[in-house]
Amino acid sequence: MITKEMIKEKVADLEKEYVDFMVDHFSEWDLWAQASQKMYDGEKVTEDEIPEPFLLEFKLFLVILEMEEKGKFDWGNPQLREIFGQLAQSPLYKLSAETITKISLRLADCAGVKTLVEIGAGRGNLTAIMLQQIAESKLPLQLIITDVDPIVLESIDKLKSNYPQITIETLLWDIKEPPPQELLEKVQAPCLAYERASIMYANIPAIENIARIADMVVFGDMFNYTGELYAYDEIPKKIGVQPLFYSEIKPLLEKCFREHFMFDLRAQEELKYPNTTMLIATK
Ligand SMILES: C[S@@+](CC[C@H](N)C(=O)[O-])C[C@H]1O[C@@H](n2cnc3c(N)ncnc32)[C@H](O)[C@@H]1O
Repeated sequence: MITKEMIKEKVADLEKEYVDFMVDHFSEWDLWAQASQKMYDGEKVTEDEIPEPFLLEFKLFLVILEMEEKGKFDWGNPQLREIFGQLAQSPLYKLSAETITKISLRLADCAGVKTLVEIGAGRGNLTAIMLQQIAESKLPLQLIITDVDPIVLESIDKLKSNYPQITIETLLWDIKEPPPQELLEKVQAPCLAYERASIMYANIPAIENIARIADMVVFGDMFNYTGELYAYDEIPKKIGVQPLFYSEIKPLLEKCFREHFMFDLRAQEELKYPNTTMLIATK
């Protein structure tokens, strides 16, 4: 039986690297909270008021608020797409992808996992890093890549051809619903699921649907640990992002899994920043 303590020991070096980065990156989160409040209140905010690590979020919020003012939100807006593309290449996102995938593969190795399931893969930014790492690890894993949006079928097809040695499947799955029969048939236990930034769109009950197929999960989402909300939480609600309160998630995790813990809790404790970004759960 794999315990929380065993997992923490296995990923201690990853925790150090990731949390040290977070502590530096989010050190001025309170200034960002104040600036985002001004934006939310309709006041003018200039780039020089924004701590550098939050500049891309600032630009994203400007586009969201501008579209809201015009009365029409459009996911195809070129400025919005450009910012999402830049975010995916930013140091925080790259490190978070490397950390989620490395944790997943170390746990997979230790638990003899046969199937990995990626949730909400979208354009495949996290998937690309996972494929590279599976190839390096040479672990005999089957990878099933899912999303509610058919864009995933297109994005992953482009990646597949680079990794002929890995068994890769792509499936549509809305995690607000239980796993489709086709997925249940493909998953070989033990199964580890991982995700980044998809529960915040699908919301908390999705956790129970993921637990139906997974023995272990690495969640890479924005979890609100303290219950405090700021304007930087309010503005993303306009594009369907919901705050994930740990107080609401905890009972569900306790129901579905034997153990769970916040991988990056040390950053929250050091900074008093309300959010944590990674959670590991195991049956
Ligand atoms: C911000 S993107 C993250 C993409 C990818 N995980 C990454 O980290 O690069 C959010 C993804 O969640 C997916 N998503 C949103 N709601 C979902 C749902 N109900 N079921 C499955 N995927 C969902 C979206 O289609 C989108 O691809």
